[in-house]
Amino acid sequence: MAKKRLVVLSGAGMSAESGITTFRETGGLWEQYRIEDVATPEAFQENPALVLEFYNQRRKQLEEVEPNVGHKTLARLQEKFDVQIITQNVDNLHESAGSKHILHLHGELTKVRSTKHPHLIYDIGTKAIKLGDKCDKGAQLRPHIVWFGESVPAIDDAVPLVNSADIFLVIGTSLNVYPAAGLIMYAKHEIPKFLIDPNNVEVPYGLNFNIIQKGAGEGSLELEKKIMQYV
Ligand code: APR
Repeated sequence: MAKKRLVVLSGAGMSAESGITTFRETGGLWEQYRIEDVATPEAFQENPALVLEFYNQRRKQLEEVEPNVGHKTLARLQEKFDVQIITQNVDNLHESAGSKHILHLHGELTKVRSTKHPHLIYDIGTKAIKLGDKCDKGAQLRPHIVWFGESVPAIDDAVPLVNSADIFLVIGTSLNVYPAAGLIMYAKHEIPKFLIDPNNVEVPYGLNFNIIQKGAGEGSLELEKKIMQYV
């Protein structure tokens, strides 16, 4: 009997309990930086060293953080479900927890790519890159991150994935940023849908989500109990 498919859309809140600040809460990452100053192609054009340093700091932070109960619960659910994770996060905590199928919509901190040949992508772990670090063809390296205003190529794979879900979970995202937030529209109407978030998240289009108003850790344990009926 094939396992039922649990599709997960995760956001910064997934990693909050691991100590990685979210984006839009008070004290969130962007509050300390103006988005325009660090996460746009224009910023990289204008002040590449600042942008490279911003991502070097976030990459380095990966050495100090661990997957939390939420990441580990999703990894454990792979025993009973075909778990497919679509994440807006650029950290590697879903991987570290043992999840196998992960689609990074907004790129990955541990990867850099050529500014001239985007197919040249390098895994650098938590190392820093600086001005003058070049790809094999001599072009400057940049974070393999989707900046504001850039396209989200992975969305083309994410849409059919959400549509293929037997169970759909949204966890730790304020659903503020498109096209990621628009993915919820592609879940089939009749399947069970859950949303885990300690705060109240405005679910657009009045979609029928079971809300678990808890943090990722506690909320995912509650979800685990609730979805055993669908095994
Ligand atoms: N557990 C679960 N969710 C939490 C927790 C927690 N412990 N703490 C906070 N949250 C929730 C917040 O209530 C909020 O709804 O996580 C969500 C975080 O929302 P954002 O900070 O907007 O992060 P996200 O939705 O991932 O942002 C989307 O915006 O800046 C861009 O590219 C960046 O991927 C990011 C995208």
